[in-house]
Amino acid sequence: MILTNINLKEHNTFGISVNSARFATFTSVDDLTQILAKRDSSKLLVLGGGSNILFTQDFDGLVLKNEIKGFEIIHQDNDLVQVKVGAGEVWHDFVLKCIDLRFAGVENLSLIPGSVGASPMQNIGAYGVEIKDVFIELQAYHIGSGKIRIFSNEECQFGYRESVFKREFKDQYIITSVTYELNMSGRINSSYGAIQQEIEKNGINHPTIKDISDAVIKIRSSKLPNPKEIGNAGSFFKNPIVDKEVLSNIQASFEKVPNYPAADGKVKLAAGWLIEQAGWKGKTIGNHGVHKNQALVLVNYSDALGNEILALSTQIIDDITEKFGVTLEREVNIL
Ligand code: FAD
Ligand code: EPU
Repeated sequence: MILTNINLKEHNTFGISVNSARFATFTSVDDLTQILAKRDSSKLLVLGGGSNILFTQDFDGLVLKNEIKGFEIIHQDNDLVQVKVGAGEVWHDFVLKCIDLRFAGVENLSLIPGSVGASPMQNIGAYGVEIKDVFIELQAYHIGSGKIRIFSNEECQFGYRESVFKREFKDQYIITSVTYELNMSGRINSSYGAIQQEIEKNGINHPTIKDISDAVIKIRSSKLPNPKEIGNAGSFFKNPIVDKEVLSNIQASFEKVPNYPAADGKVKLAAGWLIEQAGWKGKTIGNHGVHKNQALVLVNYSDALGNEILALSTQIIDDITEKFGVTLEREVNIL
């Protein structure tokens, strides 16, 4: 059923109050096909948990809320298991289910808000793991032709917070399921410094995937605002990847600038650090601002407009360019 004039405040974690001209929920590919057969030529937006979107205006089209559920083991041997998961499943529920079943691989990605279907969109990542590390393939509905296409890991062209669906195939496909490969030997990744510290602090010698998940949940809860309490969409900007000369220039004034090796001899800088050094951390402008514990996160304290948050992000980008010669790129999808 296609509803009209629906408020989206509850459908985006920034809690921005905008209206959608039309709104429909789909629970299967058949459902989706039927809804799309009835639509007019206006634009479409596929919505999962709305945790990586900033609405700056009413949406004059059809919002399609993905509710395709399902968790199916499609292959299993002594060590590896492949699971095909409905795109409308809640990501963190899927992670918890894997931990219960002792399927290792996604525990570092605990507590990331949103849906399974959005996980390949920007190749979600946290604490040393990205979705591409466990991704086998996805199934997607081509909006133009109604045909289903399978995309392999390679075909998704994953990069840091990037995939083909944010570039050449933007707005062309609706992801309906994702297949991941997990291991049953309990192999873990505790390379990220903060995880190691948390595990050591708790005196754990042989961490299980549950220990890793608990550590990640604890670290995340200490710095990232809970969207149920304060509107936000996680990191607003990407961490910039720059040439070594840019790092050297910054090091001339700030010896201890955090930096990490990236591909092609480049380095990744911590945008949160740059924004904090520039004096933005914790800054509040009326009903919105920069989070006090994590400068990479812009927040809506009550009824901010998307355009106000967008304007703040532009001010930050301009200031960081001026102070450090680094241009920040937004991670959040602006609509
Ligand atoms: P939405 O916001 O609903 O959609 C995002 C984009 O994907 C939109 O363009 C939408 O049209 C498109 N899309 C969604 N579903 C589909 C589909 N099925 N088919 C086609 N297109 C689709 N991200 C990280 O990578 N790492 C983190 O550590 C992290 N931490 C976060 C912490 C907080 C507190 C918050 C609020 C966000 C965080 N994020 C993080 C960002 C966000 O959780 C992820 O990007 C998540 O994958 C978004 O899922 P979603 O279902 O909410 O997507
Ligand atoms: N830092 C500061 N000040 C701040 C924030 C960070 O100095 O206000 C410094 C930290 O001290 C540390 C460095 O920046 O030296 C990195 O900080 P942190 O480990 O918190 O991670 P991040 O780079 O800020 C990234 C991701 C997060 C992900 C975490 C953990 C991006 C854009 N963000 O944040 O992803 O959860 O690492 O892996 O890559 C998201 O994408 O929405 C998101 C939350």
